[in-house]
Amino acid sequence: MKVAVLTGGGDCPGLNAVIRAIVRRASEHGFEMMGLRDGWKGLLDDNHFRLTRETTSGILHRGGTILGTSRVNPFKVENGLERVKRAIERNGIHAVIAIGGEGTLSAATRMSQEGLRIVGVPKTIDNDLNGTDFTFGFDTAVGIATEAVDRLHSTAESHKRVIVCEVMGRHVGWIATYAGIAGGADVILVPEIPADLEAVAQHLQRRNAGGRTFSIVVVAEGTRIKMSAEQGEQLVTTGALDEAGRPRLGGVGNIVAQEIERRTGFETRVSVLGHIQRGGAPTAHDRVLATRFGVHACDMVARGEFGKMAALRGNEIVSEHLSEATRELKRVPKEFFEVAQVFFG
Ligand code: F6P
Repeated sequence: MKVAVLTGGGDCPGLNAVIRAIVRRASEHGFEMMGLRDGWKGLLDDNHFRLTRETTSGILHRGGTILGTSRVNPFKVENGLERVKRAIERNGIHAVIAIGGEGTLSAATRMSQEGLRIVGVPKTIDNDLNGTDFTFGFDTAVGIATEAVDRLHSTAESHKRVIVCEVMGRHVGWIATYAGIAGGADVILVPEIPADLEAVAQHLQRRNAGGRTFSIVVVAEGTRIKMSAEQGEQLVTTGALDEAGRPRLGGVGNIVAQEIERRTGFETRVSVLGHIQRGGAPTAHDRVLATRFGVHACDMVARGEFGKMAALRGNEIVSEHLSEATRELKRVPKEFFEVAQVFFG
């Protein structure tokens, strides 16, 4: 039985660990594995290669994806679905394992509704996918962002400055909340709660008046800012669109830093972490989660459990309907901010 695997969307640490796990388990099931290059594009262009134990050995700890990735969505390409169906038939592919985030898994959901045999694996540093408690890649990104916040602390303290650290996460604040709590940030700004910059400035002034001469502000890239309590919210984008046609986020850190300096007179700097959060080796936690997802996804193919994805519930790996992943964004619950706020004084 031939099974194809693809990685789509933004890369994240742990993708290679999933691929390796799928291929290892596949050899126990007697599947022949095929790697599709650059996400769904691999099916559209009929571009693939054979995956074996040998070609997937030594990749567990490596960042990125040996398959390559893209945000190409077959449903937005002329005759995309027909081309995918033809490639599947021509190559005798029994099932496709799609490893991806929001975009890839929504396409996977539609493909499965069209009758194709699809199994999903959720991935993203943003941890915004519904239907799974965590995605792999998130723990690595949080570790990197936390280390950055730790490092910013010492230099902010020496210079008695405010430092604003902008982290990724798209429209949710998981990375900001975790790295902010773990790194002891003095303010955490997230998309779930519009940020009133006047309130932030007043808070920093109160800290300063209490003898705390430096502050760390963690801001998620998707945070909507308000110049005052009365004014409307503004999402900061680069003005450009990504491959999937979505606005590219970024730049909110600069605005927050400028406004803090203007309103408080405190010297303020900004540090934008960007793709550093996505590159490099996965943490041990992400390698284990990715490996468990990979083995489970392969077993799902063996059981004929299609239209579902591997998911984490508590500490168990379960099968969840693909449509659940993108039904709604998994936002950070309020309790997390309440915990963080205890330390904002
Ligand atoms: O979804 C992962 C992510 O890193 C987001 O946090 C970020 O907004 C986006 O991808 C950046 O994408 P790109 O690689 O296209 O710049």
